[in-house]
Amino acid sequence: MEELLERLLEECRSYTRLGKLADYIPELSKADINDFGVYLVNSDGKEFYAGDFDKKFTIQSIIKPLLLLMALMDNTTEYVRQYIGVEATGKPFNAIDYSEQLILKEHINPMVNIGAIEMCSMIHGETYEERFDRLLAFTRKLAGNPEIDVDEAVYLSEKRTGNKNRALAYLLKSSGIIDDDVEEILDIYFRACSIRVTCKDLANIGFVLANHGRGKKTGEVLFSGRHARFVNAILATCGMYDGSGDFAIKVGLPAKSGVGGGIMAVSPTRMGIGIYSPGLDKKGNSLAGIQMLEQLSETLYLSMF
Ligand code: DON
Repeated sequence: MEELLERLLEECRSYTRLGKLADYIPELSKADINDFGVYLVNSDGKEFYAGDFDKKFTIQSIIKPLLLLMALMDNTTEYVRQYIGVEATGKPFNAIDYSEQLILKEHINPMVNIGAIEMCSMIHGETYEERFDRLLAFTRKLAGNPEIDVDEAVYLSEKRTGNKNRALAYLLKSSGIIDDDVEEILDIYFRACSIRVTCKDLANIGFVLANHGRGKKTGEVLFSGRHARFVNAILATCGMYDGSGDFAIKVGLPAKSGVGGGIMAVSPTRMGIGIYSPGLDKKGNSLAGIQMLEQLSETLYLSMF
């Protein structure tokens, strides 16, 4: 398997430079476009990796499925369904083109920014700080890595430049969908996007989603199988933004991308996959990462369809 990963990485390497680094958050443009890594965690407990699998990068939108999991766990599925929709938007991740004065809850998808900001307000905690700390602790637990931290430079860069996210959050507040202090909720969101991970961390998180919510080593229930199904279904239909349909055809797995260049993919019952290559396509997905997943899916017969 390791040989296969090395070979596919080399075959897909030329795609890394065809992508573009995210520059709308200035700190992200400092990434090295040549970095390319992959990590696989199999259901039999074996792990395989190649390339820059231990390079750290910010999780960005890959935190969205974790935000959704926490919202489901802290509340109930029924409660969450009352406030968010589950249909693909077909629009970019930061779209703001709502024509009605009030936003319809059914149109808010948790895998795009407006939905993720709303999820931040559904996480429980006595203080805003406690809410974020619980999210960070949950991320560490799923990844099995207590060292996971926040990239302060990226966080400050997000906070300084995140005016579109601010607009989305105020839209939520003005429509009565969130009740919290807008800047505090945004702070949770900006910090959440700036959590620093590796391919291994993403593969481990993907593994738990593939394993019906049970942890790798201990088999501990980290979330219910019902919540795993909910999140995997959303990832399969909406995880790659307005590129989700194309990705379903090419790769056929639940997955989530982030503008930091990471992709977490879930092969239900089989494996968790983490990929890193920061060159992005026009939709904000890792270009070489998708290429690699396409090849991997074809070679290992991973597509669910
Ligand atoms: O909200 C933002 O702009 C980013 N911090 C996260 C968005 C993201 O990763 C979109 N992804 N492809």
